[in-house]
Amino acid sequence: MNTSAPIGVFDSGMGGLTVLQALRKALPQERLLYVADSRHAPYGDKSLEYIQQRALTLTHFLLEHGVKTLVVASNTTTAASVDFLRSTFPVPIVAVEPALKLAVASTRTGVVGALVTVATSQSTRFTTLLERSRQDVKVIIQPAPGLVEQIEMGELTGSTTRALIERYVTPLLAAGADTIVLGSTHYPHLRPLIAEVAGPEVVLIDTGEAVARQLHHVLEARELLNEDPTPGDVQFWTSGDTQLAQQVISLLWGTPVGVQQLPEAFI
Ligand code: SIN
Repeated sequence: MNTSAPIGVFDSGMGGLTVLQALRKALPQERLLYVADSRHAPYGDKSLEYIQQRALTLTHFLLEHGVKTLVVASNTTTAASVDFLRSTFPVPIVAVEPALKLAVASTRTGVVGALVTVATSQSTRFTTLLERSRQDVKVIIQPAPGLVEQIEMGELTGSTTRALIERYVTPLLAAGADTIVLGSTHYPHLRPLIAEVAGPEVVLIDTGEAVARQLHHVLEARELLNEDPTPGDVQFWTSGDTQLAQQVISLLWGTPVGVQQLPEAFI
């Protein structure tokens, strides 16, 4: 495999950009190809079969574009389909997972809150992860429907978004949580508002940097690291409205970007 081939990253929409940012920082020489599956967002209220089908379709698209590795940048997709993807495709696959282990290890009050999507909270993979990392710590699972939709619209600070965060975070605080896992890659986009609601004593944990480290490890082990020091290009694709995607991705990425429409066969 050509070391200058891109890395394919996908999510139901804008959430994976938080992972993409961590990849860009850790591996600036790598070329990145990002797919925001916004037409099908949120994945969190879809069935397992639906999410698996989207994961299959987007993986085919990325492989057709010659990616050397795949990053599943959606916790809901990992929960629903990473085993299936790994058994179907020979390409190395790195996948995000809620950072429960780290949160359980670092809590001082012995209470951890986990904000996740409904689909993640109901998945066997997540339940198993929870059982493995629970030890003597109380982990409170808080499904947070509605937050992904706000982020998809670029609504990071408005009163509706704040009200949703208050609804989901307040019970966690009341139960004594001092650590909150941001268990969807979308949620770090709301980090400032969540931090404001949770207060300065509460630690918020996401997985972007851990995924970047894992990807580095996988590329190194397979001799796939791009040694060319030139910064790699980043391409954006969407299954949704390109104009809206361009507007929201530019806002979240921090610089104006171009976004291409996924071909019809992959929508
Ligand atoms: C969603 O589309 O509902 C969120 C995806 C994720 O879990 O990161």
